[in-house]
Amino acid sequence: MLKETLIKATFAGAKILQQYFQGTFTISSKSNINDLVTQADHESEQAIFEVIREEFPGHYILSEESGELKMDSNIKWIIDPIDGTVNFANGIPICCVSIGVEQDGKMIFGAVYNPFMNEFFYAEKSLGATLNDKIIRVSDKNDVMRSCLVTGFPYSIINEPNGPLEVFDTLIRNNIPMRRLGSGAIDLCWVAAGRFDGFYEHKLHAWDSAAGFLIVEEAGGKVTDFKGNYYSLYQPTILATNGKIHDDLLSAINGKWNAGYVKS
Ligand code: IPD
Ligand code: CA
Ligand code: CA
Repeated sequence: MLKETLIKATFAGAKILQQYFQGTFTISSKSNINDLVTQADHESEQAIFEVIREEFPGHYILSEESGELKMDSNIKWIIDPIDGTVNFANGIPICCVSIGVEQDGKMIFGAVYNPFMNEFFYAEKSLGATLNDKIIRVSDKNDVMRSCLVTGFPYSIINEPNGPLEVFDTLIRNNIPMRRLGSGAIDLCWVAAGRFDGFYEHKLHAWDSAAGFLIVEEAGGKVTDFKGNYYSLYQPTILATNGKIHDDLLSAINGKWNAGYVKS
C-alpha cells in the first residue's frame, strides 16, 4: 500500500505542475529574491498531502514548503512538491515532484517524476531502480577526467575554501564537461540512469535528495557526504557517482588533486 500511495501522490503533485506550466501563477521569494516559491509549489504540496493523509493519517511528513508535521510514526514522507522551481517559474521543463519514504531512519522508497519529459524514476530498497518501469544502472566509466558531471548551486553564497565556485572552476579548467540542470532530484536520477557519471552539491536539503539518493543506490551507485561518509539526508553535502570515479572526485572536491588535476 505504501508503494501505491507513493505513486498516486507523486502523480497528483505532477498534475498540478502540468496545469500551471507556462501559464499564469503567483510567484514569491523566500530567502532571497531568486529563491522562489510559486502557487504551483503550494498546490502540488496540498495535492500530495491529501493522497498521503487519506491512506496514512498517522504518518510523519517533512515537506519543503510546510515544514514538519511531526507524528509518532516510524514512517516519514519526505516531499519536494517541485524540485527545480526556478526552472518551473521560467517555463523550463526540467523540474519534478520528488517523494521519498523513510522507515526507522532508512530510505525504503523513492519516486521522482518529471511530467514534461514523462520520466518516472522509482526505487524500492533492495529491489533496484527503474525509469518508466525499465531497470536502470549507473555508468561504468572509471576515469574522472573523461566523465560527464553535474552540479547545483545553493541559493545562499558559500564563500569558503573548496566552495561551489572553486570546485566548479577547477573541474571546468580541466575540460571536464560540467552541467547544471537546476534540479537536484533530477541530477541524482540522471546519475542513476547513467547519463551523468557523478553529481555533487555543497548544500542540499533532505527533500531535494531523499528519493534520488535511494534511486542512485539501487541503480548501483555510491552516495556519500564530502568526507566520504555514508550519506545522511540531514547534513548538507552530497556526492553521488557510479562508484568508480567516487574517490577521485571526492579528492577533487576536497582540493586534493591526486587524479591528474590542475588546481586553478
Ligand atoms: C533546488 C534545486 C537546485 C539545487 C538547489 C535546490 P528547489 O531546489 O534542487 O538544483 O541546486 O540547492 O534548493 O528550490 O528548486 O526545490
Ligand atoms: Ca528542491
Ligand atoms: Ca522545491
